[in-house]
Amino acid sequence: MIDAFEAAVASWLDDRKHVELFTPPKRVVQHDVPPYELVLKASKTSAIVTPEVGLLGTLEAMGVDVPVSCGGGICGACRTRWIEGPPIHRDRVLSPAERQNELIVCVGDCAGPKLVLDL
Ligand code: FES
Repeated sequence: MIDAFEAAVASWLDDRKHVELFTPPKRVVQHDVPPYELVLKASKTSAIVTPEVGLLGTLEAMGVDVPVSCGGGICGACRTRWIEGPPIHRDRVLSPAERQNELIVCVGDCAGPKLVLDL
């Protein structure tokens, strides 16, 4: 039913429609995104994000305590301010305006060589 609704309103502006999911989609390794540098500005640390580990896995490996609930981009618990990108947004919670400075890190990535987060 949700798929049918989304298809019916596909031409609407993103900020004019809202869908809430109760189970996150299964995480898929995004092999089309090459490795990139992740810089945590406040912590003054960095690491390389690979498709196999992903952004959230890299943050966890760096010892960053990011609040995570659904792990699938539908609850917003892991929203984080980004400073430099461009980020790749795969979530189902942020509005277009929120995406200008926030990223859902459990499903997000970077389309460039470096992503800087306000962590
Ligand atoms: S943990 Fe739910 S959106 Fe990231």
